[in-house]
Amino acid sequence: MQVWTVSNQKGGVGKTTTVVTLAGLLVKRGYRVLAVDTDPQASLGYYLGVDPDELPGSLFDLFRGHDRLDLAQVESVIVPTGTPQLDLLPASTALATLDRTLGTQDGMGLILKRVLAMVAHRYDAVLIDCPPVLGVLMINALAACDRIVVPVQTEFLALKGLDRMVRTLDMVGRSKGIRYPFTIVPTMFDKRTRASLQALTALTQKYPRELWHSVIPVDTRFRDASQAHLPPSHFDAGARGVQAYDQLLDALLDPQGGAHV
Ligand SMILES: Nc1ncnc2c1ncn2[C@@H]1O[C@H](COP(=O)(O)OP(=O)(O)OP(=O)(O)O)[C@@H](O)[C@H]1O
Ligand SMILES: [Mg+2]
Repeated sequence: MQVWTVSNQKGGVGKTTTVVTLAGLLVKRGYRVLAVDTDPQASLGYYLGVDPDELPGSLFDLFRGHDRLDLAQVESVIVPTGTPQLDLLPASTALATLDRTLGTQDGMGLILKRVLAMVAHRYDAVLIDCPPVLGVLMINALAACDRIVVPVQTEFLALKGLDRMVRTLDMVGRSKGIRYPFTIVPTMFDKRTRASLQALTALTQKYPRELWHSVIPVDTRFRDASQAHLPPSHFDAGARGVQAYDQLLDALLDPQGGAHV
């Protein structure tokens, strides 16, 4: 089972879109996929047509009951989505309280890793969506994964946010004695605008090793897919944006390390 975390402390850069699109494409390639929503705003769930207010449980219950976790409890929280082979471990607004109530307790950073280990036999791939906040949820998501995907919007302000995220990865990695492998993915690229082109040039200069060699274009089909509550791959497989994510998936699945192909 591969576990990828999609993370950036900057909001609105395409994290949730990246999770849903890669999840749909993995399903199309025959993978059994679990999408994990660690964002208290539950955008991933809403995207996939799952209303957290109508569910019996969420990731929050697993955190709250972390000292007596078992497979039955984890399975009771996971729900199917309208897309076959794609399940969701849903968020709830209560997750926003975790930093205050549990954040300082020992071992809190490894709960999601333990949860995923319990269902490893059921899935080939897990994709974790993060909130745009550094806190106990992001720390859990980083500790649980093998690879980090950092979407960055191709505009000036987003580049500042990326530097912050890279510093966070460095800091968290150092405290664990590891270097997190991460792939930077330029999103919402519009080749007609100077801002996009300048941002891409800056990324190429600053992160030559971590930057994916291509871009995700701006594509209105992503918004249409979210309104239809379908992964873009299942809504419009031929869309330019979906094709770009398919190439990204090739790169991420490449055993050579992902970023450069
Ligand atoms: N390549 C793209 N082209 C056009 N629109 C896009 C693209 N990627 C994402 N969007 C749109 O941009 C908005 C923000 O995307 P998304 O929700 O994926 O970002 P996010 O990083 O998850 O945000 P947050 O930090 O709030 O969780 C959404 O309306 C989405 O449909
Ligand atoms: Mg999001």
